[in-house]
Amino acid sequence: MSEDITNPSPLSNQRICFYGAGAMAEAIVRGILKQNLIEAGNISMLNRSSEERLTFLQKEYGVQTILNGITQEQLLVHADIIVLAMKPKDAVTALEVLKSHLREEQLIVSVIAGLSIASIKQLTSEKQPVVRAMPNTSSTIGLGATGVSCSPDVTDSQLEAMKAIFQSIGYCTVVEETLQPAITGVSGSGPAYVYRFMEGMISGAQSLGLSYVEAKQLVAQTVLGAAEMVQITNEDPAELRRKVTSPNGTTEAALNVLGEFQFAEAIQAAVKRSADRSVELGAAIERSISQ
Ligand SMILES: NC(=O)c1ccc[n+]([C@@H]2O[C@H](COP(=O)([O-])OP(=O)(O)OC[C@H]3O[C@@H](n4cnc5c(N)ncnc54)[C@H](OP(=O)(O)O)[C@@H]3O)[C@@H](O)[C@H]2O)c1
Repeated sequence: MSEDITNPSPLSNQRICFYGAGAMAEAIVRGILKQNLIEAGNISMLNRSSEERLTFLQKEYGVQTILNGITQEQLLVHADIIVLAMKPKDAVTALEVLKSHLREEQLIVSVIAGLSIASIKQLTSEKQPVVRAMPNTSSTIGLGATGVSCSPDVTDSQLEAMKAIFQSIGYCTVVEETLQPAITGVSGSGPAYVYRFMEGMISGAQSLGLSYVEAKQLVAQTVLGAAEMVQITNEDPAELRRKVTSPNGTTEAALNVLGEFQFAEAIQAAVKRSADRSVELGAAIERSISQ
């Protein structure tokens, strides 16, 4: 690893253990290694049962696993940062195991949808510094959007480490935990709204005679280009839309049809419903903890 000694990585000399070794854990490992934030030997990955998966991860990324003859307990105890990356239904059991191995200075970073900082503390220790993060699926290609929230006991250096982790897989913003449902509604579920929109565009293109392959390429490039226009020009989407909408032209005619179907209102309602659903799912997790 080439290390910039004038600007050392906030993760240098840190040991990170991924407790859960699925798609999201792998995306983060790929990101932090690609950005040269950490040596592969300082990363460890654990799962519940799949040796085949650990063999792959060890070979692909050079990370440590229990296959190296080290126990799960040793990997957890020696980590500075423990990333909780199992499904919500598996979190309580995993945290119960983790509790007996934790030291107070270890940072817990959870990517588990709906699991609150209070619940993680309740299941481990009230003094444990905790980060709750909501990444999205585009993190797997380094273009994710993540909202993170921290407990008050997260130190400045832990905050920097946490930002470095999530910036390595895309954009990252720090928000109050009360805004996590909004993050879920916008960027968490958001890729699916865009895919749905793209499906409609592709069907429309096919009905006008384009092949599926041509339509898919045109639609993907159109969505990519529009997103890049917002990012690169820093103009508001509403302003960019006005600029491409000539009076009485084709785009105006199309936007009028979208208006008839209440397109904007439908998207707003979808964002709200996803946020509300995340609160419902979070409440179900809280209930399972208190049972
Ligand atoms: N994927 C996304 O795009 C995305 C986006 C936002 C948030 N998230 C969140 O990220 C979390 C992980 O999602 P994922 O898609 O990566 O899931 P996944 O691919 O199913 O991986 C889950 C991992 O957790 C492991 N696991 C389960 N129980 C365990 C235990 N008691 N001890 C150790 N390991 C355990 C599993 O091991 P085995 O395979 O051996 O059972 C598996 O390696 C979820 O909570 C999800 O809400 C994911």
